[in-house]
Amino acid sequence: MNSLKSMDEITIDPMRFRRALGNFATGVTIMTAQNDQGEKVGVTANSFNSVSLDPALILWSIDKNSSSFPVFEQASHFAVNILSGSQIELSNKFSRRNIDKYEGTSYQTGAGQAPILDHCSAVFECERHQIIEGGDHWIIIGKVVRFRDEGRSPLVYHQGAYSGVIPHPLLQLKETVEAEDIGEMHQGHLYSNVCYLMSRAFKFYQTDYIPKQLVTGFRTSEARLLLVLGSGTASNKADLPRDIAMPMREVEQAASILQKDGLLIESDGFFKLTEKGKKTAHYLFDIADSHQNEVFEKYSDEQKDIFITMLRDFAGVA
Ligand SMILES: Cc1cc2nc3c(=O)[nH]c(=O)nc-3n(C[C@H](O)[C@H](O)[C@H](O)COP(=O)(O)O)c2cc1C
Repeated sequence: MNSLKSMDEITIDPMRFRRALGNFATGVTIMTAQNDQGEKVGVTANSFNSVSLDPALILWSIDKNSSSFPVFEQASHFAVNILSGSQIELSNKFSRRNIDKYEGTSYQTGAGQAPILDHCSAVFECERHQIIEGGDHWIIIGKVVRFRDEGRSPLVYHQGAYSGVIPHPLLQLKETVEAEDIGEMHQGHLYSNVCYLMSRAFKFYQTDYIPKQLVTGFRTSEARLLLVLGSGTASNKADLPRDIAMPMREVEQAASILQKDGLLIESDGFFKLTEKGKKTAHYLFDIADSHQNEVFEKYSDEQKDIFITMLRDFAGVA
């Protein structure tokens, strides 16, 4: 009893708490609704979860400060739009305040006039079932009345950065065994499929590289910000979420952590690396370069150049 009481008394720093929660990888949704007056709202949310199969219930939580909440409270229905891997820009757009989020957004209307966004992985149309108070958030429970399952590869959110889904290395091992089982012809087929080979090569590359980067103590989001600022590809704040594949609030949180460590300063509305920041970015580039050199050790410079030219071409970068 006593120990529980003393645990309650520990003050939790909300920023560090949020950062620790970021270790739980989630998908990304945009919750949408429309009231009888035709006011449409939409909020990027990763607090979505399933609750019950029968009846079909889901939940998510919305910040009490969200200007969209009154419409979710008034509307009879809302829609859960599960974002696919290609919808980072939409996620960023619906996480911004004081803009018309529907301008230039393609959608249809579903149950209770809730907007249904195009090109999602899945959509759950819900009747508002219950709203419960949960600290500084409202927990909204919806009863699913209709859903569509497009099965597109989902957008993933982890440690404040967007990611995609790739098979785990152990599954790849299993795949190899299965490939052998189904005979040489199909194995040959699989092993000359560029999509399969690129995803497998990327996974192996990353499996060895990420631990080397994490040893520096930086989160993915902080390391990405340092690398992008260090490479000088972004020249204003608005370009950063696209270049780093992170929402603006995470860019800002990573920036404030780097700022506290004396690695960057904010000047003229943009971030600039300090001398210490430049050295750190240089160090991160060294880790990336030495890993790349290790991987290319057994190939000639000519082979490496051809490979890089082809990758640049596939990636659509000059
Ligand atoms: C990846 C991601 C996940 C988010 N998850 C939530 C969430 O679960 N609940 C929430 O209230 N806000 C969440 N937000 C922030 C809201 O999207 C943002 O505060 C909201 O759109 C503000 O606009 P509004 O005031 O127009 O409602 C998230 C933002 C991002 C980028």
